[in-house]
Amino acid sequence: MIKKVYAKIVSIEKIAKETMKMVLENEHISQFAKPGQFVHIKVADHTLRRPISIAETNVETNTFTILFKTVGSGTRRLASYEAGEYLDLLGPNGTGFPLDRVEENDVILLIGGGIGVPPVYFLAKELTRLNVNVHAILGFQSKDYVFYEEEFKQWNDVTIVTDDGSYGKKGFVTDYVHDINGIDRYFACGPLPMLKAVKEELEGVEGYLSFEERMGCGIGACYACVIPTNTKDKYKKICQDGPVLHANEVKL
Ligand SMILES: Cc1cc2nc3c(=O)[nH]c(=O)nc-3n(C[C@H](O)[C@H](O)[C@H](O)COP(=O)(O)OP(=O)(O)OC[C@H]3O[C@@H](n4cnc5c(N)ncnc54)[C@H](O)[C@@H]3O)c2cc1C
Ligand code: FES
Repeated sequence: MIKKVYAKIVSIEKIAKETMKMVLENEHISQFAKPGQFVHIKVADHTLRRPISIAETNVETNTFTILFKTVGSGTRRLASYEAGEYLDLLGPNGTGFPLDRVEENDVILLIGGGIGVPPVYFLAKELTRLNVNVHAILGFQSKDYVFYEEEFKQWNDVTIVTDDGSYGKKGFVTDYVHDINGIDRYFACGPLPMLKAVKEELEGVEGYLSFEERMGCGIGACYACVIPTNTKDKYKKICQDGPVLHANEVKL
């Protein structure tokens, strides 16, 4: 259930170029958030809230983690907050990744691109509870932007890909999806061109895409986030019906 809450910033640190990790304390979000859901954050001096995925929760400490890239004034202002301050949040918002679709012994491919990596990390951790084979392919612009490689390695087989080849393998995540044999299901989050390419490359495999495009209200009221679909509804709202949608139902 979405609630408006105030979460205390426990820590904030830079973990890669233009990339921040913030740990927050709030019982409601930490207890109820599922992989793929996000919090809608009121940032000082900005009218519209900013959606940021939940990257991890800890039910024992009532904390949760967000990872964000400083791309504009809202996220730069967010990066300027300090431990001890409180953030006004709505959450947890949206649908999560459909874990009920995962079956025992599945070969699961996780794909994260840039700021799409955080929700995929939450999912990777959750999948460790199930008896499945998980492979992750994570794409970044270059070496300086790479984060969470070691964190993923705790749970999965991980391939890091950079656009310029300055770290890991060179190219795009789609160049390496066929290195994994017998994929039963895939889950991906990242920029729209990446999601489109993943969908095309993995045509015929059951897949779920999580969209991180621009949003307005974040609670289904303004239609700023609609995406065309093949379903009878014609459009879905990313903030409410998503951000995770079945790859076959969206027109990209
Ligand atoms: C469901 C959801 C989950 C998200 N999760 C995360 C997350 O975990 N970590 C994270 O870093 N970001 C995430 N984002 C993206 C994040 O919300 C935006 O980067 C942020 O709102 C930008 O605000 P700003 O004021 O800093 O930038 P603005 O000043 O609004 O924009 C600055 C520049 O960034 C571009 N931009 C703005 N929003 C986006 C976007 N959504 N995608 C690509 N480019 C954008 C603009 O076109 C512009 O060029 C998520 C978005 C959604 C919808
Ligand atoms: S952001 Fe307003 S309806 Fe989705």
